[in-house]
Amino acid sequence: MQRQLIKHVLTRRDFGATVTVAGWVRTRRDSKAGFSFVEINDGSSLASLQVIADGGLPNYQADVLRLSTGAAVVVTGTLVESPGAGQPVELRAAEITVHGHADPESYPIQKKQITYERLREIAHLRPRTNTFGAVARVRNALAFATHRFFQERDFLYLHAPIITASDAEGAGQMFRVSILDPGAPPRDERGEIDWAEDFFGRPTFLTVSGQLEAETYACALDRVYTFGPTFRAENSNTRRHLAEFWMIEPEMAFADLADDADLAEDYVRYLCRYTLDHCPADLAFFDQRVQPGLVAMLEGVAGSTFHRLTYTEAVAILEKAGAAFEFPVGWGTELQSEHERYLTETVFDRPVIVTDFPFDVKAFYMRRNDDGRTVAAMDVLVPGIGEIVGGSQREERLEVLLDSARRKGLDLDLYWWYADLRRYGTVPHAGFGLGFERLVQFCTGMQNIRDVVAFPRTPRNAEF
Ligand code: 4AD
Ligand code: MG
Repeated sequence: MQRQLIKHVLTRRDFGATVTVAGWVRTRRDSKAGFSFVEINDGSSLASLQVIADGGLPNYQADVLRLSTGAAVVVTGTLVESPGAGQPVELRAAEITVHGHADPESYPIQKKQITYERLREIAHLRPRTNTFGAVARVRNALAFATHRFFQERDFLYLHAPIITASDAEGAGQMFRVSILDPGAPPRDERGEIDWAEDFFGRPTFLTVSGQLEAETYACALDRVYTFGPTFRAENSNTRRHLAEFWMIEPEMAFADLADDADLAEDYVRYLCRYTLDHCPADLAFFDQRVQPGLVAMLEGVAGSTFHRLTYTEAVAILEKAGAAFEFPVGWGTELQSEHERYLTETVFDRPVIVTDFPFDVKAFYMRRNDDGRTVAAMDVLVPGIGEIVGGSQREERLEVLLDSARRKGLDLDLYWWYADLRRYGTVPHAGFGLGFERLVQFCTGMQNIRDVVAFPRTPRNAEF
């Protein structure tokens, strides 16, 4: 007999049909009349299926009456109309096979509320809760929507390398990849670690961004995007930073900063629309339990025009705001999360795109503006999160690129291949990176980024 997913069974109305489902028990209630109700969830939907287990089942005493939260079962039975209000259909069991009981004395996920902090300690079991099942489904939908969005627009999916010798952001926040013995590394004549002896014959790291590689393909195939894991060894313990996170990085040839901002805006709106259309039950759950107003907020963003302003204008607004910020505001410093949120939540009440940041606070590859002090960069800020997208038009003029790198203390000889893009057939081009976990936070209302990725990697934490 073909097993069916519960989300499909819940839509069926062919009462009398024989159906087999499998999943994990959420609850069991015994009626005085000698039968039991068993709620089964298989993760295919937020909703569970109610099974009626009759006292006459051969294993009723031995198995059914022992069923507790977390037990794994396969049930075959007859689909019947539910008399109860909570669900349209239920399953009258003819056969219940228990694959594994879950001892209620020790199984940590019981019906009562558990804190997110506690669930992080049992991250291998937390997908069995309503919240983490819903997060996983929304995350899945957003990944699929991402591919659909870019494929519909003729972007080519590029797999950028994960091990790299280059520091794309020039921030020095890289995890080293090495097979040298840390206790006795080979040394050169000067007594320093001889990386030439290492696996790749040079220092290598986990990538912080696939952008530089994406640029090489955009400068041949016009428009590409990456979607892969990226790594940052920054010691940030905040609710929006991970050491390992996924990033989507589109890159377009023959495009400038305005094209880049247009693409980012279309993409974020598309993601909101897609999630609203494809995950209504999960979003309703988040709206009710996690962030009241979430659905209305996503509807608003899906239909909004993002407000665009320059960094210089943003700083002027923040300086005049008179709000009590923890970090000072002033031209020449990066916007902090509190400033970003003030702009998108309080000042404009919708997503905001800030453009043209100071050269000194941004990466070497961004295109210098004619004013001599800003670059053609943009950040997309959304309510609840702040920065969700960072992007720029890239410096396509070789001399200017070399000068920018020099001024940032970077040796572009190491990036000779990157400079070659400007030597041969250089072209204006632009792209951005969207942090996938911040996106999942935005679409679910989950407060902490550690709760929107299966196994979070943060400073001092790599369990599982
Ligand atoms: O602004 P970032 O550092 O930009 C880049 O990496 C560029 N190379 C992107 C490009 O132009 N192709 O990072 C892009 C986005 C941020 O806006 C943020 O959403 C996310 O990546 N991000 C993080 N997400 C979680 N944890 C971290 N530590 C993150 N750092 C950046
Ligand atoms: Mg950024």
